[in-house]
Amino acid sequence: MSKVESAMRFVRRGVWLPVVAVAVAFVSFGCSDDDSKVANPETDLRARFDLQTLPAIPYPPDNPPRQERIALGRLLFFDPLLGGEMDVACGTCHHPDFAFADRRQFGAGVSGSGLGPNRLVSTSSVSGELVALEPRNTPTVFNTAFNVNGEGAMSFDGFQFWDGRVKGLEVQATKPITSRVEMRGDAYGMDDAHATAVSLDSVLTRIRAVPEYEARFRDAFPDEALEVDQGTRSSVIDSSTYARAIASYERELVTRNTAYDRYVLGDDQALNARQLRGLEVFFTKGRCNDCHSGPMFSDFSFVCQAVPQEGTGKVVIPGDDAGREEFTLDPNDRYMFRTPTLRNAELTPPYMHDGVFESLEEVVRFYNDGAVPRHPAIPVEQIHPSVRAPLGLTDQEMSDLVEFLKALTDPGTLLDPMLLTVPERVPSGLDPVFGVRDPGSGRP
Ligand code: HEC
Ligand code: HEC
Repeated sequence: MSKVESAMRFVRRGVWLPVVAVAVAFVSFGCSDDDSKVANPETDLRARFDLQTLPAIPYPPDNPPRQERIALGRLLFFDPLLGGEMDVACGTCHHPDFAFADRRQFGAGVSGSGLGPNRLVSTSSVSGELVALEPRNTPTVFNTAFNVNGEGAMSFDGFQFWDGRVKGLEVQATKPITSRVEMRGDAYGMDDAHATAVSLDSVLTRIRAVPEYEARFRDAFPDEALEVDQGTRSSVIDSSTYARAIASYERELVTRNTAYDRYVLGDDQALNARQLRGLEVFFTKGRCNDCHSGPMFSDFSFVCQAVPQEGTGKVVIPGDDAGREEFTLDPNDRYMFRTPTLRNAELTPPYMHDGVFESLEEVVRFYNDGAVPRHPAIPVEQIHPSVRAPLGLTDQEMSDLVEFLKALTDPGTLLDPMLLTVPERVPSGLDPVFGVRDPGSGRP
């Protein structure tokens, strides 16, 4: 660990340990069988709305948490070696300074310089062609460990992406490498079908050529390393170990210390009066809970709510994003998008699949007005019944609702600070996050 990292750990631990102690105290309090504390469902919002905190992290059977694997995943996450043109890493768009998103309407990957809202894209260093922005808004990686799956369970195979086209963090981790605008660039050719097959292999070959990665993969995957030594496996670095390492890191990025969670665990003072009123609006008049339910504040259902369209989409309608239909090609899924988590929404503007709304106030006004402004091509019958009609909230209720959404914020205060820190160096020797094209930008 670098000096800076250990210093940060030390400094932050000062605040970290007492927070854990307090949280643990609440847990034990919440579990005590002290009869005098039995909640009155009339007055206690916890009982009335069956409020819950996040459970233990669900791990896939073949990817239990191992310190070496998490640390390796973190290095890969911030290493631009994974980008075809070596100028973009996962952490470029999912940056800890922006709550593992990018604060942009649309993500900017290959050929970009700068970070977050200041990042600009230009032309591919290989082909000289302009590289476009992402077609969609970048979601946070925080809490993706709990994304809900097709059976409605918070699971290691939960839906990923706005259209749910991928299940589970392991599968997801192989996708950005093959997307031209995201990470591949034109390093592996412009013909998409061909380049997709080539680029994952090429990136694995690159990783294998770095001795430090070879050693770290061996430490992180001892069983696989043994198979290599016994001659039953050709390399410890393949698409499976690569994907499991990245997913291991992402899965730990969990935020449990929100004011909401502290309230649910027994701290009656955690929410202020406005947030308590906003919580009640959320679960009653606002109907938000019809979709944003459970500890993730989402059931991950696919919903048409006719959000005005600014993203480009991919296959179905040129220039328009058809949502889930882009993946299923089923016209019944047209303009349906996955309900997102609301945890840390305060930290990840702008909002919706196309980042069309800049503030939480705008989002709440959209719902209060009965999904207005809306996509002109979407007839009212197609819109989900819960959001079709105006809600009739007062200005006070709308601002209380926004205050409550802010009670779902926690930038990771209970996490090992190492998980939230960009590594000082990555095994490839490239500049972490920025890569070769942008050696000095924004960094000392
Ligand atoms: C150029 C910016 C960019 C880069 C680089 C990037 N992502 Fe993303 N990421 C996005 C966007 C945009 C989406 C949403 C795409 C969609 O829904 O169609 C996304 C979605 C995700 C999701 C799904 C989250 C959810 O709840 O649905 C995960 C997980 C993720 N990215 C991880 C990664 C990893 C791992 C890497 C590196 C291998 C990476 N990203 C590289 C922009 C980026
Ligand atoms: C019928 C299901 C449904 C209901 C009811 C609903 N939402 Fe949503 N919500 C969604 C979906 C789906 C999206 C994403 C839509 C898109 O991107 O086009 C979303 C997006 C959001 C976002 C943006 C999150 C982000 O990261 O971009 C916020 C904030 C939000 N909803 C808050 C609320 C509030 C507050 C209420 C109650 C007033 C509410 N929602 C009611 C389904 C719903």
